[in-house]
This record gives sequence, C-alpha cells and structure tokens, in this order.
Amino acid sequence: MRPEASRFDFTSDLRICRILNGLWQVSGAHGAIEARRAIAEMFRYHDAGFTTWDLADHYGPAEDFIGEFRREFAARYGAEHLDEMQAFTKWVPRPGRMTRAIVEQAVGVSLSRMKVESLDLLQFHWWDYGDERYLDALKHLADLRDEGRIRHLGLTNFDTEHLRIIGENGIKIVSNQVQYSIVDRRPEVRLMQYCRGHGIRLLTYGTVLGGLLAEKYLGQPEPRSAELGTASLRKYKNMIDAWGGWPLFQELLAALKGIADKHAVSIANVGTRYVLDRPAVAGVIIGTRLGIAEHIAENARVFDLSLDEQDRTAIDHISAKSRDLFEVIGDCGDEYR
Ligand SMILES: NC(=O)c1ccc[n+]([C@@H]2O[C@H](COP(=O)([O-])OP(=O)(O)OC[C@H]3O[C@@H](n4cnc5c(N)ncnc54)[C@H](OP(=O)(O)O)[C@@H]3O)[C@@H](O)[C@H]2O)c1
Repeated sequence: MRPEASRFDFTSDLRICRILNGLWQVSGAHGAIEARRAIAEMFRYHDAGFTTWDLADHYGPAEDFIGEFRREFAARYGAEHLDEMQAFTKWVPRPGRMTRAIVEQAVGVSLSRMKVESLDLLQFHWWDYGDERYLDALKHLADLRDEGRIRHLGLTNFDTEHLRIIGENGIKIVSNQVQYSIVDRRPEVRLMQYCRGHGIRLLTYGTVLGGLLAEKYLGQPEPRSAELGTASLRKYKNMIDAWGGWPLFQELLAALKGIADKHAVSIANVGTRYVLDRPAVAGVIIGTRLGIAEHIAENARVFDLSLDEQDRTAIDHISAKSRDLFEVIGDCGDEYR
C-alpha cells in the first residue's frame, strides 16, 4: 500500500511518506518498549507504506532501533532496497564550544548507531539564542554535508527570526520541525510564510496532541495529570490549557467528530489532514509506541481524505474562539527557551 498521495518529494533525492513515524515514543517516557517486538513492528509500518522515521540522538534506543532494523531489513529484502526507507535524526547538544571535532564526533555517533554511511536528514536543535555558537555548529554541519556524511541539513524548533539569520549566513536548510496542530497554529503567524518564500519544508509534531485529538476524549471530563499516561499526553494537555481549556477543546472535538462522520474517518484523521494541507508542510510526524499500540490502518485513511471549504470553516470557527498562542508563548520553539 503506497498510494501516490502518501508520497512527497522532500528533496530531489528523498521521497518520503507524508506521515512520518515518530520515535520519541520509544524513549521510555511513554511506556516500556521491548526491543524485539519494536523491530518487528517497524517492518509492519514499513510494509504498510510508512517508510519514513523521525528520531533523535536523545530518544533512548531510537537510533539503535534504526540500525538494527536496517540490518534485518537488508537480510530480508536485500541491501539494494535500503533506500526505500528514510530516517531523519536530530542533534540536540548542550550549548558550549562548537568545534569541528565536537560536531564531527556527534555525527559519527549517529552514523554508527544507525548503521548508515550518510544521515538522510540531520535536524539541529539549539537551546539558547543568546549563545551564537549555533552558527559555528551549523557551519560545521554544512561542511559535513558537503563531504557526504549528511545528505541534508534541517532544524527543529527554530523561530522565524533565527531561520532568517541562518539563511543570511549562507547555510542551506531544507526543513524545520515544529509543533503544529489545529490547537497550536503558531506556524501560521510568521514561519509558514518565510518557509514558503525560501523553499524550506515544515515537518510537524503534536498534530494529534499525543492522542488527545480522538473520539476517546470526546464528551469526557477533563483528565487529571495523573490520568495521562505518557509524556506526550501531558505535554499537549498543557497546550490545550494555554489555548482555551477543556470546555473549548470539547467544542473542537465535537466539530471534528461531525466532519469525521461525514467523511467516514476519525477525528485524528481530520486533524492530520488539516495540517497536511497547509502551505509548506511536507509531513506530519505521528508518534508510534512500537509494540504497545498502533494506528497503522486508521492513519492510512488520511491519504484518501479531502476536506472541503465547509469543513475548514467549521474548524477555523472554533480556532477563532481560542487564545492566540503566538501572543501567549511566542513563535515556534519559544516554549523550549
Ligand atoms: N522536535 C521536537 O521538539 C519534538 C517534540 C515532540 C515530538 N517530536 C516528534 O514527533 C513525534 C510525535 O510525538 P508527539 O509527542 O507529538 O505525539 P503525537 O504524534 O501527537 O501523539 C502520538 C500518540 O497519538 C496516538 N495516536 C496516533 N494515531 C492515532 C489515531 N489515529 N487515533 C487516536 N490516537 C492516535 C497514539 O497514542 P497510543 O499510543 O496511546 O495509542 C500515539 O502514541 C515524536 O515521536 C517525535 O518524533 C518532536
């Protein structure tokens, strides 16, 4: 199952699935993951057409899982098929000196854990804009890309202003990974327009709000933090609180349920499609608790779904009642700084 609508030419040499499998969910903060079951599950995702993975150096065993998956994949299908999968990792260093040796060492660790010659996409995160050594790091990463150890350079959680500074320093960036959902629409304020103008793609997370954007929570009383079993659920419950609170979220879920029923899909499908249709968005990352829970068949339905003007108006009508998260939090990524 690889419908054409699920594929996207992310770069001239990388054709990805527009729903990426997110591996923060294997880090331990979302339930215990058993490695053997997790690798077996990775085949199920891949074989269903979900061929693109999003991970990071600090997501527990995620990079090792990619390495082991590639090893078993080559044995099963032949090494010549390895380029049918794409694995996008991140480097999230502590601010400090960013020498060539430090940057090269970090990239080397990811290459070796993931068992690849070249990283498909390295997404760089930086905690402190006051420390301008992020530009040193990015220049070294660009050199490593030019030398072939990284295919493409991306960012995560960078705001529009710093994306502009990076561009003005002559560093070519292909993507920025940010939080974007019907609840958190901050990318629409500045980032999206800048990305469109400069050929930068958005990869989004938090689009299904850790699972809160689902029938399971429709008509339910507000969950207490202790009832939310994953770091992801707790993160996006806080976002809902900042956005407008549980009663308004119930209004949103009810509106989405009406749209979902009309198209015979789910609430999460509608939320995913809405973001996928937005300008500059290349893909939506949906977290996968490998071996614990899966939504493979359900999420595949996003690729057959088309929202109409009436659907979008109903969604925007609820958004108009919420607080402006750009005003409350700032531009994309400011919640980390
Ligand atoms: N760059 C960053 O700073 C950053 C931050 C956060 C996340 N990320 C990336 O984004 C990925 C996603 O993480 P997230 O925290 O944003 O989580 P998310 O994708 O919003 O939520 C994932 C959870 O949603 C539920 N779900 C998935 N499909 C569903 C469906 N069709 N219906 C109902 N529920 C569904 C699943 O819950 P169950 O497992 O309980 O069924 C799953 O564990 C991460 O793995 C990571 O790759 C990046």
